[in-house]
Amino acid sequence: MVVLEVKKLGKKYLGNDFYSLKDADFRIVDGEIVGLVGKNGSGKSTLLKCIAKSQRPSEGQIFIDTQDIYSGKGMLDNFGIMIDPVFFPQISVLENLKLYLKIHQKEEYYSNIESILRLVGLWDARYRKPKDFSFGMKQRTALAIALITEPKFLLLDEPFVGLDPIGVKNLLAILKEWAVSKQTSMLISSHQLSELEELCDRFLFIEAGVISEANPADAEKICVELISPIRERRLLEQLSAYDSISFEGRLLEIPVDMNEHDLNHVFKVLAEKNKIKSVLSKRDHLQKLFVED
Ligand SMILES: Nc1ncnc2c1ncn2[C@@H]1O[C@H](COP(=O)(O)OP(=O)(O)O)[C@@H](O)[C@H]1O
Ligand SMILES: [Mg+2]
Repeated sequence: MVVLEVKKLGKKYLGNDFYSLKDADFRIVDGEIVGLVGKNGSGKSTLLKCIAKSQRPSEGQIFIDTQDIYSGKGMLDNFGIMIDPVFFPQISVLENLKLYLKIHQKEEYYSNIESILRLVGLWDARYRKPKDFSFGMKQRTALAIALITEPKFLLLDEPFVGLDPIGVKNLLAILKEWAVSKQTSMLISSHQLSELEELCDRFLFIEAGVISEANPADAEKICVELISPIRERRLLEQLSAYDSISFEGRLLEIPVDMNEHDLNHVFKVLAEKNKIKSVLSKRDHLQKLFVED
């Protein structure tokens, strides 16, 4: 079942002359873990904030369980959200969690406090106040709040940033387990694909506010990066003869199941003109585009 649907979503902040998010369109189903990958400033937090209703979109709509998020109250009740710090800096971590559960009338989760604080490595610091915390500890406080009610949907903005390698491992393990045992759906952002690689079922790549989806089918494409765009008329004609090949600028995409004869011909005509710069899988290509600097 579709739990989250984002339709033609756009966001232009007041005073900006550019969109931080443009025409975002995707769906997430029960138990699906989706990674949102992009460099700093690409629009990851903007998308998550729109879903969390902490930013109002300029265009488009968001549906949770087929209901528009602005159509009623309590639409985010089953969401665990970690985007901006939501804790009170002047009271202890323990008090923060208790207060959060009280405000949201979810006191039945009191018994989760110890395990969650141990998970994020804050159990020993439970009587300390976030105002005295390092950046990483603040991040982990926010993470504990997002996880404490075992929500049906997790919206996590760069959750690994403040964790040490063991913390990362523990968090990955619990997220994976929840996806299976509780059918928790997740949208998790990161500026590093490698962090999310083993966790996510699917990825959304974002660059300058524009999302491109790396479908499993995309792995079935070979990307040929060209030295320069194809301008030679003869070459254009030869390649246009193949419906399954697409080219745009310096990129040519070929399905992996292309037959031997055609494959040899395509590479031959490209090689004759010294056009080939590199050959990558579509996934590797996306990684190179969106993640490397
Ligand atoms: N409150 C804001 N007001 C104006 N511009 C913003 C605001 N928040 C983010 N932006 C701009 O929107 C773009 C995307 O930012 P953001 O969503 O924070 O990216 P990311 O989370 O991927 O680093 C950036 O150009 C950023 O400067
Ligand atoms: Mg961000």
